Amino acid sequence: MKQLYPAVVDQQSFSRPLLDWFADHARDLPWRRTYDPYQVWISEVMLQQTQMDRAVGYFQRWTSKFPDVHALAAASEDTVLAAWEGLGYYTRARNLLRAARFVVDNLSGILPRDHATWLSLPGVGPYTAAAVCAIAYNQPHAVVDANVSRVLARVLDLDTPVKERAAASFIAKQALTLTPPGQARNFSQALMELGALVCLPRRPRCSSCPLHDVCEARRLDIVLERPVPAKAVTFIPIDVATGVLMARGLIYIQKRPATGVWAGLWEFPGGTIEGTETPEQTLVREYLEETGFVINNLRKLMVVRHGYTKYRVALHCYCCRLTDDRPQPPPILTAAQEYRWVRPETLDQFAFPAGHRKLIDLTLTTREMPCRG
Ligand code: ADE
Repeated sequence: MKQLYPAVVDQQSFSRPLLDWFADHARDLPWRRTYDPYQVWISEVMLQQTQMDRAVGYFQRWTSKFPDVHALAAASEDTVLAAWEGLGYYTRARNLLRAARFVVDNLSGILPRDHATWLSLPGVGPYTAAAVCAIAYNQPHAVVDANVSRVLARVLDLDTPVKERAAASFIAKQALTLTPPGQARNFSQALMELGALVCLPRRPRCSSCPLHDVCEARRLDIVLERPVPAKAVTFIPIDVATGVLMARGLIYIQKRPATGVWAGLWEFPGGTIEGTETPEQTLVREYLEETGFVINNLRKLMVVRHGYTKYRVALHCYCCRLTDDRPQPPPILTAAQEYRWVRPETLDQFAFPAGHRKLIDLTLTTREMPCRG
């Protein structure tokens, strides 16, 4: 396999221009001001699935709510999920809370300094452990995210997809070998920054790249062919119905079970449209199954489309009423751990999955809310 022996670059020719470039071009990010390990940890977890611009706002709100590991450990899961809402992949937020509680209960509230202990914390994988140790403590670790993989696949002219095991391990070894002694903090961030700002996937800015002279793919004029694409993922379309039930000015919401998909998030009842069902039939059935409520007066609000892991979801959204509008007995919960009747303007205080949040933002918090009346 040729790619295991590509042109390996000399450390200094690689790291010097890169570090000089970083000194001039590093973005002023809030967690780069102090390199406090708590902040680096939070930022790295947020950045795993989130664009930098969006992450910065979330990070600032998060750190003013939970300024350190003690504040985070003392927070309720609902508060933490609400602060995370909109970032998706909520397991990350739950794990941050679990890890913070572990640190407070077992490590005297002091975040670890070593890679192995970081790895033992909930939600901390090799990337996060390496990133925190390199960025917060300046320890030599290979910090390889998608941007770094792309930069190295190009500079080293790797001709297999970067996620393949041998390629990934080669990239990690190279990232470490190329790190100059005592410079892990800047070097690891410089590589990520270069991938984010210059070595772009479709429009790489090779003419302003500090690695121009050492980049093998650039020399061979095959930059756009690196990294070699992985096999395309096929998305599975699914149709789901959900209904906003309103009675006496209040909206019914329920909290999903503590495990499984969207654990602990709030939602409006609903579910997958099965067989030949219409969305309306699905909704009546799901309400009955999940709460025991008999609903009617269904009015279609919209179809919200969103992606969720390998699914392309079409969420058919309705508002609905109770068949019998007199005060109801409590619901019989079969798909939730808790329920509430809430005023529409308080929906912002609860964390919902992305599709339900879109529905709330587009209809329920506006003055002309279609479910009212
Ligand atoms: N992506 C993830 N972490 C980053 C960091 N510290 N700097 C730049 N990009 C990043």
